[in-house]
Amino acid sequence: MRVNSAIAFLCSAFMICLAVIAVAASGKVENDSTTRSAPELYGKYCASCHGKDGRAKSMKGKFAHARDLSDSKWQDDASDERIFNSIMNGRKDGGNMPAFGKKITEQEAESLVTYVRGFKK
Ligand code: HEC
Repeated sequence: MRVNSAIAFLCSAFMICLAVIAVAASGKVENDSTTRSAPELYGKYCASCHGKDGRAKSMKGKFAHARDLSDSKWQDDASDERIFNSIMNGRKDGGNMPAFGKKITEQEAESLVTYVRGFKK
């Protein structure tokens, strides 16, 4: 009986710890969530592979098989939702597009979708 209540105490202490960590982590995300502009984000996170002009002509871009974002055929085929998901979750369909869901907010990803649309030839 005493052992059981000790286990119950440890379990609830553990759950409280998890809750505190979850609150602390979500608080941190909220603090950083001053929305950054799409050009700023693109320059920081995307241009190294996709290039300032979206055409992925850099060494790193070629090495990673990054997509040419100015390709009008691809622009016509890809929905906004797909682009959003590729940015948030990454995409490994022959290349290696990293996921940005932990680095940028959903709102920022939406503004990047619009920015990416601007590369269309
Ligand atoms: C490490 C290099 C790298 C970085 C950094 C990178 N990408 Fe990519 N990206 C890729 C590769 C590789 C692909 C092709 C993935 C595939 O289809 O296999 C790709 C594909 C894409 C696509 C097409 C997705 C689709 O559904 O067809 C979009 C849009 C895109 N990237 C946007 C971005 C944006 C916006 C950023 C910055 C937040 C970014 N990428 C950062 C390498 C990168």
